[in-house]
Amino acid sequence: MCGIIGIASKENVSSNIINALRKLEYRGYDSAGIAINTAKKINQRKVKGKLDNLIYALQKDQFDGNTGIGHTRWATHGEPSDKNAHPHSSTSVSLVHNGIIENAAELKKSEEVKDYHFESDTDSEVITALLTFYLKEGLSHLESVQKTISSLEGSYALAIIFSDSEDTIYGAKNGSPLVAGTNGVGNSIGSDSIALSSVANKVCYLEDGDITVLNKESIEIYNLEGERANREFVEIGINESEVSKGPYKHFMEKEIHEHPHAVGETFRQFIDYDKGTITISNINLNFDKISKIYLIACGTAYYSCLVGKYYFEQYARTPVECDMASEFRYRDPVIDPNALCIFVSQSGETADTKAALDYCRKQKIQTLSIVNVKNSSIARDSDHCIYTKAGAEIGVASTKAFTAQLSVLLSLSIHLASEKKFVSVEENIKLCKEIMQAPLLLEQAIERSYSLKDTAKAIINAKGVMYLGRGTAFPLALEGALKFKEISYIHAEGYPAGEMKHGPLALIEKDLPVVCIVPPGPLFHKTISNIQEVIARGGKILMITDDETLESNSENIWEVFRLPKCPKSIEAIVYSVPIHMLAYYTAVELGNDVDQPRNLAKSVTVE
Ligand code: G6P
Repeated sequence: MCGIIGIASKENVSSNIINALRKLEYRGYDSAGIAINTAKKINQRKVKGKLDNLIYALQKDQFDGNTGIGHTRWATHGEPSDKNAHPHSSTSVSLVHNGIIENAAELKKSEEVKDYHFESDTDSEVITALLTFYLKEGLSHLESVQKTISSLEGSYALAIIFSDSEDTIYGAKNGSPLVAGTNGVGNSIGSDSIALSSVANKVCYLEDGDITVLNKESIEIYNLEGERANREFVEIGINESEVSKGPYKHFMEKEIHEHPHAVGETFRQFIDYDKGTITISNINLNFDKISKIYLIACGTAYYSCLVGKYYFEQYARTPVECDMASEFRYRDPVIDPNALCIFVSQSGETADTKAALDYCRKQKIQTLSIVNVKNSSIARDSDHCIYTKAGAEIGVASTKAFTAQLSVLLSLSIHLASEKKFVSVEENIKLCKEIMQAPLLLEQAIERSYSLKDTAKAIINAKGVMYLGRGTAFPLALEGALKFKEISYIHAEGYPAGEMKHGPLALIEKDLPVVCIVPPGPLFHKTISNIQEVIARGGKILMITDDETLESNSENIWEVFRLPKCPKSIEAIVYSVPIHMLAYYTAVELGNDVDQPRNLAKSVTVE
């Protein structure tokens, strides 16, 4: 994780660096720092805590210049502190790093750095030490960068400045993302294109092994072999309103309100308006030959996979295995050669998901990614890619990306089912009509969810919260529990309602509210029985159901939250809204930092 930025400009850069760091804070926010080259002297400031602390420190002690680097950190090696914050500098060089240097401990013992005085506990500082050594040895800036990175194992995106070169920044990348940007005023590098949106109108996604050398006039890229590489710069295509909160208090609140748009825009790509069907025409995949599907992801994206399993099995009658990316390759999976491995990721940069993708590619298994961030590593490295159209998601807790992922998985399963003739044209048309209702139903769900503010007030003192569901409501329960615990800091657990009697019923007491997701359908009465088992043991139930559930089914239930009746096909999408809203309101009620919960980061680029 961590976000890095480097800007070389005809203008002063400090405010643009701070502005970029603000956009990168989703990648980590336990310390921040900046270094600027002013008259062949590097000035730097770095402090523990959020970016605001750095801004405050800079107000007391201002400096500016035309070339600088910045960093926002998510600690891996070394606790969050001033000394472990980046940049890491010597008298000759200063750098910011995103990634992990796996051989840092060995390198610190090497001959080259034996006399270096390390000030931090980080892995990153060894890069500074090596660069300092090679400069002393008389190597040029570029040679010292090349020599240093040749000894690094692990992942890195680096932005480096040298004290005796007032206008130049060096960037290098392996495994962690790095984007180069340009406009008429200067050139820049950063962890993503959003960070560059106010200093670049064109961007280039660097490749592993690339080194870039930039100043305010020019930008050069060298490939792994040290040759000049001709890389394409594309229009940045970012709308600044996407990355601002607008009228909302938090990004998460804004992003929940964008569920209808995210889902509508995502589905729109797959609607064949002439035939009235769901058809995926923008990827060249032979669906006929697919014997098995693996759905692989992390976090919320993994829960979307668990819902996707129901879709593929129900509609396309195709066996599915879901794997957490961090576990997948280590269990040495036996993969059917005709399988399709699908990787789901909002950021497209999650290290575990990317590593699982690399593993499948090495095994020559067909890969497809479902990704939100355009041109991200996972999108580029997979054989086929379908984009979710959720727009920029900034809140660390994923919301609209989740329902957009469900939209792709549902469409893909319907397409596959049609190809395999498990779904007729008439059935496809019917499903397409249902899908087209999703944005409106989501809007109504949001409208109704405002009432959950009062429910949230009643649970802020809970010991913990249990989420229960059956069918697709089970992965929704897992998603509900994850969202709840990550922003409220109250323990929450998702469980299949039918499994309660095998252990978790022992936890039930009045201070452990149970959120039960009970849409109508074949599992409704079974879930109601499970609810009554909880109530009989003193449990307090919040039931999430629809308008048609009879009062008689909600006997002794603490609270009933009703959604509009919706088609089964899009139920998991619509039921996501109250799940996300309840977590949001609870965290707000507790006064927590909703968009930047403690200890977490959005784009997890370390394994
Ligand atoms: C982090 C984020 C989650 C996200 C997960 C996977 O843990 O906080 O919100 O679901 O990473 O991220 P991805 O970008 O691969 O979907």
